[in-house]
Amino acid sequence: MNFFKDVFLSLLCLLGSNALPYDNEYGPDYGNEWIMFIDDKGMNHTMDFSTLPTDDRGIMFGDAYFYLYTRQNNESEILNIPDDDSPIISKNFNSSNELKVIAHGWYSGSNAEWVQNFKDIILRTEDANVIIVDWSELADNPIYPWSACSTRYVGKRTAKLLDKFSQANQLNYVHLIGHSLGAHVMGYTGMFTNVTVDRITGIKQ
Ligand SMILES: *[C@@H]1O[C@H](CO)[C@@H](O)[C@H](O)[C@H]1NC(C)=O
Ligand SMILES: *[C@@H]1O[C@H](CO)[C@@H](O)[C@H](O)[C@H]1NC(C)=O
Ligand SMILES: *[C@@H]1O[C@H](CO)[C@@H](O)[C@H](O)[C@H]1NC(C)=O
Ligand SMILES: *[C@@H]1O[C@H](CO)[C@@H](O)[C@H](O)[C@H]1NC(C)=O
Repeated sequence: MNFFKDVFLSLLCLLGSNALPYDNEYGPDYGNEWIMFIDDKGMNHTMDFSTLPTDDRGIMFGDAYFYLYTRQNNESEILNIPDDDSPIISKNFNSSNELKVIAHGWYSGSNAEWVQNFKDIILRTEDANVIIVDWSELADNPIYPWSACSTRYVGKRTAKLLDKFSQANQLNYVHLIGHSLGAHVMGYTGMFTNVTVDRITGIKQ
């Protein structure tokens, strides 16, 4: 049943490329929780994002994973989002330092050379906390709109990570950095998170 729902929603995502522009005149939360779109036959449909899974798996078939690096750990520390109310405890996070979160784009992953180099250069330049978002399971999809649709889900997960992380760790300065579709991930992260985001950098292809 869920499988068919996923496929159905994915198809809606594809059609959603004809979405009408963001406009609140259509009602509350337009462009946020729902949009209208015109399909190939000129039919007018409503696409309800509020029915998409919020904390479950991605709308496609994959998930997002989070890895923390600091000057204290060359090996990544895996950050898991707990299912219950408990916060995320980290061995290596240093609350004196800035938190930088990096998200890769389409057809990429946390092991991409530029992502690892970027993280290394940051840590060489400053004593920072760097979290890499790996959403490659969803980004490695030949159909671009499917990956594009997943950015909202990944942003929601990243927002949740920051929220749970901030329960146990004082966040000093939060800088979100995304490349390509990763910039969309960071936009959604900023939209959904309850922590203060100080800066978002979107890097174009
Ligand atoms: C689509 O339907 C909505 C609600 O029924 C309406 O407000 C909107 O004007 C329609 N859009 C177009 C382009 O027909
Ligand atoms: C991390 O790796 C760099 C370069 O490979 C090395 O210079 C540094 O000593 C390592 N730090 C730790 C804590 O292992
Ligand atoms: C945390 O970072 C500060 C520099 O910003 C440093 O002085 C301090 O030693 C670090 N703490 C730990 C436990 O590494
Ligand atoms: C942010 O706070 C609101 C209100 O307390 C809560 O409903 C929401 O789930 C929180 N967001 C996240 C991502 O935890």
